[in-house]
Amino acid sequence: MAGRRPIIAANWKMHKTHLEAIQAVQKLSYLLEREDAERVEVVVCPPFTALRAVQTLLDADRLPYGLGAQNVHWEARGAFTGEVSALMLQALRCAYVIVGHSERREVFGETDDVVARKVRAVYANGMIPILCVGETLAERDAGGTEDKVVGQVRAGLAGVGDDDAARVVIAYEPIWAIGTGRNAEPADAGEVIGLVRATLAALYSKDLAEGVRIQYGGSVKAGNIRGFMAHPQIDGALVGGASLDPEELALIVKYR
Ligand code: 13P
Repeated sequence: MAGRRPIIAANWKMHKTHLEAIQAVQKLSYLLEREDAERVEVVVCPPFTALRAVQTLLDADRLPYGLGAQNVHWEARGAFTGEVSALMLQALRCAYVIVGHSERREVFGETDDVVARKVRAVYANGMIPILCVGETLAERDAGGTEDKVVGQVRAGLAGVGDDDAARVVIAYEPIWAIGTGRNAEPADAGEVIGLVRATLAALYSKDLAEGVRIQYGGSVKAGNIRGFMAHPQIDGALVGGASLDPEELALIVKYR
């Protein structure tokens, strides 16, 4: 993986109260050695309601994990009832924000344009987007994976300059593999991720593309992480269900 530091992010989705989130991070910190978190960048993405509690714990115990949010609004403030801005997330010392998750796109109607606005807001506030892309089963069956994924990468990074693009994390999450127990084959995921990297090379430069970390997501667990990490194109994972259990998450981080 050409010197790229692996990044494993736990997307807890709409799970865990702030108390449960604290407990999970504490447990994780008992299970992981310092070296684990040096070798692999570990990011936890709890629901909004738990961000403050987890941030306080990370600070107090000097835990070497990044904090990520699962969504963001593109404006800094205003009459947007129920929304949370990048300004607010930055104040909580979030380092990452998941943007364009397929659940946001499919259930909440987020368009490529909305995703791009959110990506720019995340950068404008000094954080890094984890930009999610991926095809449906119907699109895959119709041979449309490349068009869909490449299109989402291009659209999501619209208006993003080189310095910011160099820091992006992209998560390739085929929708049919999310929460289904049916993970993609590492070779197939690696092939699509190679296309994403080629897209970055075309949009920016080969050097930039070689430095960007691209994760796989979709039914990742302790039992299959090694196969993904062994692929030279795959730099980490965005983990949903399996990340809810700290023991399973620790095994995923310790995949070697
Ligand atoms: P699962 O790991 O539960 O399949 O979810 C993947 C995902 O959507 C992570 O963002």
